[in-house]
Amino acid sequence: MQLRDFDSDSFLRDHWQKAPALIRNPWTAWENPLAPEELAGLACEEEIEARLVVHADGDWSVEHGPLPEARFDTLGEAPWTLLVQAVDHHVPDVAALIAPFRFVPNWRIDDVMVSYASDGGGVGPHFDQYDVFLIQGLGQRRWQIGQPCDDTSALRPHDELRLLADFETTDEWVLEPGDMLYIPPGIAHDGLAVGDDCMTYSIGFRAPSRSELIAHWVEDRLTDMSDDERYADPDLAAQDNPGEISAAAIDRLHAMVAETLADRDAFARWFGEYSSAPKYSEVSWQPDKPVGAETVRAKIAEGIALLRNPASRFSFVRNDADSLLLFVDGESFECADERISFAEGLSAHDQVILDAKAGKSDDLVALVAELVSRGSVAFDPDAR
Ligand code: SIN
Ligand code: CO
Repeated sequence: MQLRDFDSDSFLRDHWQKAPALIRNPWTAWENPLAPEELAGLACEEEIEARLVVHADGDWSVEHGPLPEARFDTLGEAPWTLLVQAVDHHVPDVAALIAPFRFVPNWRIDDVMVSYASDGGGVGPHFDQYDVFLIQGLGQRRWQIGQPCDDTSALRPHDELRLLADFETTDEWVLEPGDMLYIPPGIAHDGLAVGDDCMTYSIGFRAPSRSELIAHWVEDRLTDMSDDERYADPDLAAQDNPGEISAAAIDRLHAMVAETLADRDAFARWFGEYSSAPKYSEVSWQPDKPVGAETVRAKIAEGIALLRNPASRFSFVRNDADSLLLFVDGESFECADERISFAEGLSAHDQVILDAKAGKSDDLVALVAELVSRGSVAFDPDAR
């Protein structure tokens, strides 16, 4: 599906990370990509993250998936919402919703969450730490936008849902199928289903916190560090006061830490691997058998498209004009020559067709075989 009348440059300039935006049905022809019954089916599956939020007597209760199928027969009159995370990993038509938003880099994209609510259902007034595009799929939802919030904002006592104690409505809109609302991080919002059969698709983004970055980067640096690397002072001179930690000592100690953490190339490799790690590491997408070079060559010769696994993450950093590092599902792959345009194509498009020349590069064939064997890509199973 494509967007018309949506200018990503002016959106980025005026709204991204700055201000909410209401975009009335920008699709050439909006079609709800997932039936409510299919969403309910996903919520019953073991490896899928799902929640059921019921709003009764002024309070919200949360049940976590996998939900027993019978639960859907026992939902009472109280408004409820079913929320299923990463539906794009399982439903290609839902994954296709991300395509128009690829003006944001892959590494900033998290997943597509899908919600289904009965009349009056919602998750309550809250704020998120991430940008989100909320696409109305089916039915209607009234969205209220509120004040900027942060971790000092007062919350209602609730164990799981971080519900805001106060809400100052600044805007209010009813979204119809195909309408879209962008909300930047930290802005209060509250969406209530107007009528039954309300389905909302949330294209969610992510941004690492400084503390998360430091903690994980340090953890990576520590993996191959030797205890033999120690502070040394063969030039030690007698001090007037033995209690003083001298400026020279502090400089040397600080440099021991800073030099290790300042290695930009090592950081780039680590960050690419870290940020491309799968959202659900416990889910395996590997084919039954690893795929060898011969099979890859044959598929390339037949012109069969290579499809990205929607649950996999793809990005790269350039080393120099002749090489780059491709990151897929937490691993990095050195790319030169034919691998370069393959890596660029795979990072930009959800499918690539390799030309006959590609089959002649052993290096490229080996990379494709490895990615297929890991389950990150697959040759189109529906190809003739
Ligand atoms: C929803 O789809 O009901 C909730 C989305 C959100 O507010 O983050
Ligand atoms: Co939200």
